[in-house]
Amino acid sequence: MQIILGITGGVAAYKSAELARLLVNQGHRVRCILTEAGARFITPLTLTSLTGEPCYGANPDQGEWRASPNIEHIELARWADLVAVVPATANILGKAANGLASDLLSTLLLATRAPVLWAPAMNTGMWEHPAVQANLARLRSFGHAVVDPGEGVLACGEEGSGKLAEVASIAEAIQVHGTPKLRILSGRRVLITSGPTREDLDPVRTLTNRSTGAMGIELARALRDVGAKVQLVLGGDLAAPWGVETVRVRSAQQMLEACEARWADSDGLLAAAAVADQRPESPSSEKVKKGDGAETVVLVRTPDILARLSASRRQDQWVVGFAAESEQHLAHASAKLAKKGLDAVLVNDVQGGRGFGAQANTLTPVTASGPHPAIGPLSKDQLARAVVQWWAHQLELRPD
Ligand code: CTP
Repeated sequence: MQIILGITGGVAAYKSAELARLLVNQGHRVRCILTEAGARFITPLTLTSLTGEPCYGANPDQGEWRASPNIEHIELARWADLVAVVPATANILGKAANGLASDLLSTLLLATRAPVLWAPAMNTGMWEHPAVQANLARLRSFGHAVVDPGEGVLACGEEGSGKLAEVASIAEAIQVHGTPKLRILSGRRVLITSGPTREDLDPVRTLTNRSTGAMGIELARALRDVGAKVQLVLGGDLAAPWGVETVRVRSAQQMLEACEARWADSDGLLAAAAVADQRPESPSSEKVKKGDGAETVVLVRTPDILARLSASRRQDQWVVGFAAESEQHLAHASAKLAKKGLDAVLVNDVQGGRGFGAQANTLTPVTASGPHPAIGPLSKDQLARAVVQWWAHQLELRPD
C-alpha cells in the first residue's frame, strides 16, 4: 500500500516514527506530512530516514521538506491508497469534520478519495468533550475509521482515556481499512480452527505436534481484511490477531465444543488446526513417576472436528480442510475431500519437514474437479491472502 501518514502536534508524535518504520518493514511505502505543530515534536529528518521517502511540511520553507501545498495536496491525494493521521489532535479532527483546509494535511484530507484512518491522542477532558465526539461521529459518517485511544497515564499527568492506541494495533487497523473488501465474503461469518491441540498425560506432560497456528492466524487476518466476520478457535501460544474474535482452547474436545457452539451461525469453515488425532485414554491427575523398563500409554481417538461439522452442515455452508502430507499428497487430499465431504482441501507437501514454521510455503487446492494450480511458494501472510482470493473466486463460481 502507499500510505500518507499525517502527524499532528501531540506528545505521541514520537510514536508515529515507530509506526512509519513498522509499516515500511511490512512492505508499504510511507510518506509523512507534518503539521506545523507536529514538526515541533518530531523532525522531518527522522521520518525521511525511516521511510526513504520525502517528508512534507505545512509550509514550503524548510530543507528536507518538499512542500508546495498548491499542487502537492492533489498529487499526494492521488498517490495515497490510504491516509492515516497519527496522532490526531482535537484540532485536526475539528478541521476535517468541518471541511476546513488551511495547510497541506487538511487540504489533502479534503482532496483524497482514499480511505482515511484516525488515531486520536489528547487529554481526557478534551477527548470526552462533546465537540470532539461530535466531530468523530461526523468523520465516521464519511466512512473514516477511528482507532480509539486507550486508557492510561497521559503526558499531562492525568489518568484516563486519550492515550494513543498501541502502534501495532494502529498498523493492523491500517491493513484492515486499506484492503478492498470482497463482495462474496464481506459480512460473512467464517469459523477458523488453528494451531496445535494439546492432550494432557498428567499435570506436566502433554501430547502435541509441531504446528504453531501461524497459518490459521494469517488466514483469520486475511479474511478480516476483506470484510469477513471471523471467529478463530485457537490452540497453541501465539497471540490472537487484532480485531478477530478469538476463543482459546487446549484439547481437541474443547476445540470441537467451541466450534459446535458457533457452527450454526457460520457461513463457512476453514479447518487449519493440526488437531491431535489421539489422546491418552486415562490422563493422570497427579504427575506420573518414572518406572523401570518399557512403559505404555494407551491412546484413543479424538473427535474429527472437520468431519463432524461437515456432516452437520446446511446446504448454504461451505467447508474447507487442510492436509499435510509427506507422500502422494494429491491422492491423499482427494481421498480426504471425499471422505469428509469437503468443498476443498488445501494440501501442503511436508516432505522433509517443510511447512511447519518454515518461512515460504506452498498449498495446492484440490476440489471435486481435481487439483488446481499450486499457490506459492509465499510467506504465510501472503499465502493466506492468496488463498482467500482463490477461495472467494471459487465461491463466486458456485451455483446458488
Ligand atoms: N482435523 C480435524 N479434527 C481432527 C483431525 C483433523 O478437524 N481430529 C482437520 C484438520 O484441521 C485438517 C484436516 O482435518 O483440516 C486434516 O485431515 P486429517 O485426515 O485428519 O489429516 P491427518 O491428521 O494428517 O490424517 P492422516 O493422519 O490420516 O493423514
